Amino acid sequence: MRSLLFVPGDSARKLEKALTSKADALLIDLEDSVSLEAKDEARSITSEFLQENVAGSGRPRLYVRINGLSTGLAEADLDRIMPAAPDGVVLPKAVGGADVAALAALLSRREAGGARAATRILAIATENAAGVFALGTFSGSSDRLVGLAWGGEDLSADLGAASNRTDSGAYADPYRLARTLTLLGAASAGVAAIDAVYTNFRDMAGLEAECFEARRDGFVGKMAIHPAQVPIINAAFAPTTEEIARARAVVAAFADNPGAGVVGVDGEMLDRPHLLRAERLLARAGEVV
Ligand code: COA
Ligand code: MG
Repeated sequence: MRSLLFVPGDSARKLEKALTSKADALLIDLEDSVSLEAKDEARSITSEFLQENVAGSGRPRLYVRINGLSTGLAEADLDRIMPAAPDGVVLPKAVGGADVAALAALLSRREAGGARAATRILAIATENAAGVFALGTFSGSSDRLVGLAWGGEDLSADLGAASNRTDSGAYADPYRLARTLTLLGAASAGVAAIDAVYTNFRDMAGLEAECFEARRDGFVGKMAIHPAQVPIINAAFAPTTEEIARARAVVAAFADNPGAGVVGVDGEMLDRPHLLRAERLLARAGEVV
């Protein structure tokens, strides 16, 4: 998933709009963008939307962000949305693999017979300091876990920070640490690393720059808050034709030299990590390798 677009779950209008956004996934929100008074209406609108847009109709993947496990709202969220079979659930304020395992148990109890263990989990894993310290604990927590996302907004609130950016606009140290540990935590758990939202939704150049940095470092996608961000994210995370050609050349070089641990391509030494990187890139581009 390259682009994951947040849509407030109490807005039928935005949900309809989001369907045509070309986002790979919609993250339908029951949490922070929905006021306490609107939670119940949001559950109804969301579950209706899920029922009207069943899988296989060419729609984006539909994930629902429930309220955090410690809010007392999460189980009521699940009770209302699980009968409508979302593709996945987004867990905010996650503190490590224990929270993912707890959510997995809640999902198992609510999945209809034929769909056992079908509901995926995406954890937002850096929303508080405890979550950052637990980033190394996701491995083996649940087969449902598909990705770890990081975010700097709630973390800055938890830290009591005045801002999460430096004067030059870059993320300040605590957020860079959270970002890096998310990347490492996701890799060690064998799941996708997803980059944080870019909240200034009119600044497309800033968004694009952040996408390129994320992609360079190993993130495979980025969350969005506005439909206008989706095409930029999709383009930035899609492998380019040059990258695909290069990856094909690397795979071919190893295939032509069976048993070789190291080969040379265009004057560059390539060994196993290069082959793995090339295979991953081709897999992301939709090619079976
Ligand atoms: N999903 C679907 N449609 C969206 C959208 C989104 N995330 N954000 C904006 N739109 C729609 C608007 O409804 C509007 O459509 P309309 O003209 O037909 O009413 C159109 O896109 C243009 O929106 P714009 O005027 O540029 O922005 P806005 O002021 O209406 O909305 C936000 C700004 C930030 C309130 C809105 O983008 C939003 O709700 N984002 C998601 C917030 C969220 O879920 N946060 C939680 C995770 S951090
Ligand atoms: Mg939040």
